[in-house]
This record gives sequence, C-alpha cells and structure tokens, in this order.
Amino acid sequence: MSQNTDFLPFARPQLGIEEEEAVLRIMRSGWLTTGSETLAFEKEFAEFVGAKTALAVNSATSGLHLALEAVGVKPGDTVITSPYTFASSAAVVRHLGAEVLFCDTAQDSYNIDPVALERVLKKSGKVRAIVVVHIGGLPCDMDAILTLARMYGCAVVEDAAHAFPSLTDKGYAGTLGDIGVYSFYATKTITTGEGGMIVSNNPALLERMARMRMHGIDRQVWDRYTSKKASWVYSVVEAGYKYNLPDILSAIGRVQLAKAKRFLEERTAIAKRYDQSFSSIPCLQLPPRGKGHAWHLYALRVHPSATGMNRDQLVESLSAQGIGSSVHFIPLHTMPYWATRYTLKPSDFPNALNMFERSISLPIWHGMTESQVTRVIGAVNALASKAASGTAARHS
Ligand SMILES: Cc1ncc(COP(=O)(O)O)c(C=O)c1O
Repeated sequence: MSQNTDFLPFARPQLGIEEEEAVLRIMRSGWLTTGSETLAFEKEFAEFVGAKTALAVNSATSGLHLALEAVGVKPGDTVITSPYTFASSAAVVRHLGAEVLFCDTAQDSYNIDPVALERVLKKSGKVRAIVVVHIGGLPCDMDAILTLARMYGCAVVEDAAHAFPSLTDKGYAGTLGDIGVYSFYATKTITTGEGGMIVSNNPALLERMARMRMHGIDRQVWDRYTSKKASWVYSVVEAGYKYNLPDILSAIGRVQLAKAKRFLEERTAIAKRYDQSFSSIPCLQLPPRGKGHAWHLYALRVHPSATGMNRDQLVESLSAQGIGSSVHFIPLHTMPYWATRYTLKPSDFPNALNMFERSISLPIWHGMTESQVTRVIGAVNALASKAASGTAARHS
C-alpha cells in the first residue's frame, strides 16, 4: 500500500485572493499604519460579537496587558487564572508587578473550575481580577464565574484567544465579562498573522485601554493627520504602550471576519467527523463539549483507563506518518518560572495535570479536505487498534 508522505500540518491559515487584494489596496493607499481600515475592522468586529466597542491590538498578549492595567491591577495585587493556559494569560499579571494565584481546572475539563475558584477566593482575601480562558474555544461557565466575581468584587477578563466565534446563550464568549481579548495569531480561527482585538461595554475601561494602547497620548494617531487640529499637537498623559494594529493587518482581518461563520461551519464538521470516528474506541475520550464551541482546537484525550497506549505515543505515531499535532497546554505551574516563584509541585493542580498528560490536539482547520481528515482518523485508529490488540494479547 502506498503511504501518503505529504506533511499534514496541525494548523494552516486560509488566506485567499481577497486577503491579497486587501493588502495591496492598503499598500497602494499611502497609509500603512493604524488608520481608517483599522477603525472599520474594529467597528465590524464589535458588531459581529455585539459589543459596544472593539480596540484592535498587535496581539492578544498586548490586549490582556491593557485589560489588566485598565481594571487597576498594580504591584501587590493578586490575579487568579488557571494553570491550563498559554504563557501570556499569567505573564501579563507579572508585567504589572502583581502576583498570580493559580486555580485548578474542573475535573475532565480544560477550563477553570468555579467550585475551586470559590475556594481560592474565600481563602485569598482581596483579588483584583480573574482571567478566565476559554480553552480550545469552549466557553467557561461564565454564569458561575460572574456570580463569584460580583460576590468577591473582582473584575473578569476573558482570555478569548481561542474563542472566536463562540456563541453562548448569553452572547459571544469575550463579551460576557468586563473585558474580552481575542487573538488573531497565525493558527487562530481568524488570523492577521499577529494581532488581537479587545472588546468591552464599559466606556471608562475602553477609554483607558485606547489611550494606553497608543503611548498614553490623548488623541488617536490617525486623528492627528485628519482632524483640523494641527497634527503636531498632542499631549502624553500616561506612560503608555505601543500596541496598535496596522492597517495592512486590519485589511486581512476584515476579509477573514467576513468568512468567520463559514470557517466555523467547516471546523464544526471536522469535529463531528472526529467525534463519530473516535466515540466507540475504548482507549480514547472525546474532547469536553458544551454550547458554542469555536473548535479552535480538537483536543482528543487518551482514556484514563487506557492501557497499552499513551499521549506521547500518539503524538510520535502521527508525526511518523507526517501528521502534525500539538499539546495544549503544558500547565504553567510545571514551568520553571512559575514553579520556582510560587514553590509549586505538578500535583498541586491535579486536574490540569491529568488533562495535560492525556491530551493531543489534532489538525482542525477550515480548508482541510475530507481525505486529510480521513487520513488523521486512520492514523489515530491504527494506533488505537494496535494498542488494543497488544493489551488483548497480554491479557490472553
Ligand atoms: C490561551 C491563550 N491566551 C493568549 C494567547 C496570546 O495570543 P497572542 O499570540 O495573540 O499574543 C494565546 C496564544 O496562543 C493563547 O493560546
């Protein structure tokens, strides 16, 4: 039998002629940096998710930094997040001189556990903010989280890097807390290469973030060149950052945004095919599910009771067959920086550790062909049946 040797990547952005034309239009316009194209992208994004205003930024990491700064996180404060996330969700807390308090994920979930969150809040006294992460695009239990946040007087920042578009009964993930932050990094559900978007319905927070995004200047840069006020007149009123998204990238973002619903349909169809193929395999466990999954990741799990197969073997076996995969995430509390800073052991967050050890993110991207999906399914099934027959042989 001939083997398909083409490499099948774990993620692949889908950029077409429309994105190319949009970039050319901006390149030829004479205005490359943040300007009217970014304003249009912000407006269209805010309309899509139903938020008052959106602010485009050069990454979700920058957006999370701005969000925590805006809700008043400062040295000596405490911010809660889950260890089951990417570096940025916690690093931005340290950028502001505050401390991170990790809270475990729920059992059998990639998302923060509201029950554990209540325990942590009760024990820790004043907490300035909670950063909740909708891992893989599955929204957290926002009702429970927002109730706790109100009780304990803390702000809720949604790390919605994976969660566009994740539509819950209460609205889009990212619009449910005080501030939501999306990522347009190359592997995300819509991409600008690098980039992100902040949304909020709170005018004071929006004003603060808009100013801090752009050097702490009291007027927007494009306004300096278009308004009647002399372009050289501005005031620096804060020590701000440089986190704006240029028009070239916003042009790509606008085209991608217009395709977002179709992209979601394609990813959802792939997730369904994976579900159908893996649900009856005893050594595998489907990803956790719930309403409004954006299917940024399809994080398949090796079943806790599985013998004869582990996650690493699955990763290696796929790789040997030219299929990319990934693992989301190595929990932060096992990373040298966080483990040392807070004297943490891997077993301190057992649910996060357990999920990490069993998880593999399979390729799931809009534009994946039927035969590419079939190839992934075949490779996973082959290893699972080999493991099952090995186990059966040992038991016989
Ligand atoms: C959960 C999570 N939060 C934040 C980020 C940061 O996104 P960006 O690369 O846009 O800064 C990522 C990036 O992958 C992520 O996975």
